[in-house]
Amino acid sequence: MRSHYCGELNASNISQEITLCGWVHRRRDHGGVIFLDVRDREGLTQVVFDPDRADSFALADSVRNEYVVKLTGLVRARPEGTVNPNMATGEIEVLGTSLEILNAAQTPPFQLDEHQSVGEDIRLKNRFVDLRRPEVQAKMRFRSKVTSVLRNYLDDNGFLDIETPILTRATPEGARDYLVPSRTQEGNFFALPQSPQLFKQLLMVSGFDRYYQIAKCFRDEDLRADRQPEFTQVDIETSFMGEKEIMSMTEDMIVGLFKQLLNVDLGTFPTMPYAQAMETYGSDKPDLRIPLKIVTVSDLMENVDFKVFSGPAVDPKGRVAALKVPGGNALTRKQIDAYTKYVSIYGAKGLAYIKVNDKSNLEEGLQSPIVKFLPVEVRQQLLERLGAEDGDLIFFGSDSEKVVNEALGALRCKLGEDLELYTCEWAPLWVVDFPMFEETSDGGITAIHHPFTAPSCSVEELKANPLTALSQAYDMVLNGTELGGGSIRIHQSDMQQTVFELLNIDEAEQEEKFGFLLDALKFGAPPHGGLAFGLDRLVMLMTGSASIRDVIAFPKTQSATCLLTQAPGEVSEKQLKELSIRVRKPVVE
Ligand code: AMO
Ligand code: AMP
Repeated sequence: MRSHYCGELNASNISQEITLCGWVHRRRDHGGVIFLDVRDREGLTQVVFDPDRADSFALADSVRNEYVVKLTGLVRARPEGTVNPNMATGEIEVLGTSLEILNAAQTPPFQLDEHQSVGEDIRLKNRFVDLRRPEVQAKMRFRSKVTSVLRNYLDDNGFLDIETPILTRATPEGARDYLVPSRTQEGNFFALPQSPQLFKQLLMVSGFDRYYQIAKCFRDEDLRADRQPEFTQVDIETSFMGEKEIMSMTEDMIVGLFKQLLNVDLGTFPTMPYAQAMETYGSDKPDLRIPLKIVTVSDLMENVDFKVFSGPAVDPKGRVAALKVPGGNALTRKQIDAYTKYVSIYGAKGLAYIKVNDKSNLEEGLQSPIVKFLPVEVRQQLLERLGAEDGDLIFFGSDSEKVVNEALGALRCKLGEDLELYTCEWAPLWVVDFPMFEETSDGGITAIHHPFTAPSCSVEELKANPLTALSQAYDMVLNGTELGGGSIRIHQSDMQQTVFELLNIDEAEQEEKFGFLLDALKFGAPPHGGLAFGLDRLVMLMTGSASIRDVIAFPKTQSATCLLTQAPGEVSEKQLKELSIRVRKPVVE
């Protein structure tokens, strides 16, 4: 139908007759002349209709915003003084000679340029309109470029794109499963994959050597700004490559992506052991744009006359740590109270602080509700350890290691944001040497990555010290977000069985749930490993979006519903009957 996209016209098209198809973005009546800004995915063009051509003029007069039109006209230079340098097509306009209304439109639920005053709920409910906005279109196009660049890289490096099932069995990645009832096997359920993990491992056993897939994953978990129940992974697996080789190859891919699409040089990624990340940043995904560091001071507090500190200081599972904020002395009481409230979200019972007014005067120069509990020599050692200067403020966390890490880790990020402490735009790193397992609150153990991750030790060593064993897992982190994670896998069935046993999965359950994997490992499984990137998160970071929803065409809300289709929805009695399902409605009191 069209000869050109609206947005691609420029001075080189002057004097050409062109045909455009698109949406009426705005209609203006300028004393006898009608201007239509016509929009398509490439941009806007101004089209002028004058009364000389009565038919098209009358039609142009009748159109309203968001009508779909086709028009023919002559490209001409805009009259002097009306050139619009802010518009890609601002040098030209089209003198309309004919106009056809392809479809009328009712008044849209919101005007495209007024979206900011419209709640996200309304935009998501009318996502087909929201998606017309140039900013959202730009994000979708960027996303498409990202997948294209990544596909090219993987294709060029010999990776095969292979699809894996969506109707499958549970693929444990730590979240709840989405279940699909089977009609043919009454009472049985498929699970939607939390990731293609087990299938990609089987593909390695089958000898495909290098696999990738841009794969949908489903996880029924608590949602946040960077989590969706249904999201996309760039999923990768290779055989006969070690941890370092996989990290270096995928790093090369991401560096190339940033260079190509953003002209950003990410450089070489530093590598940080998990233990160091937790100790210094209180997080396994540290935001290295922020220069603040958490420093352990437990040893200094063992004997102080302040139970809040001395208790955790002597507890093997406790931690007392400090976070120095250079120049933080200027924080007001009100701000400190707000930070105290903030850390309470993470379980902190308080937020002690010291303002360093004059470090040469340890008696009078430190301003703090707790300094009276600290002997002068402790004050001295503390300031030395932290390298504190006059004008600094020191925050303290004292609790279980977990609470202190989470609270001070989050506070560090909050301060970085509030006080604009960022030292660079992009800070990537690898976090490595994760423990294999962590303790659960009920005293059991759970896999930190997933149960198919290889440990860095032998079966015997793992059995002897499961909680101190390290794994061959690695996470790629960018600006405090986990972009991707992966590991070398267990490729021997005895090791896999040991891990299952440690996770309290007995032989019957192993056979029932993972028999196919244990079998595959017995029939010539090569050493293999891989990684998966969160595509949505990657695009969110690259486009500077505040939420993962902004880079997904049809996202779900925080409560995992699709406002557009109203999914999930009820189903008919007939469907339920076919599936042998009876729904127990919650009793309304
Ligand atoms: P993992 O569970 O770490 O590893 O997931 C890999 C990456 O997927 C992204 N991600 C998510 N993105 C949006 N919404 C979610 N709910 C969500 N959950 C995860 C993250 C994360 O880094 N099978 C392994 C990978 C492997 O070992 O190869 C896995 O799924 O960016
Ligand atoms: P309190 O003894 O409760 O009056 O607390 C004295 C100071 O210590 C206050 O500034 C509290 O915010 C702080 N505080 C209390 N509990 C903790 C804790 N677990 N970690 C860090 N600071 C705390």
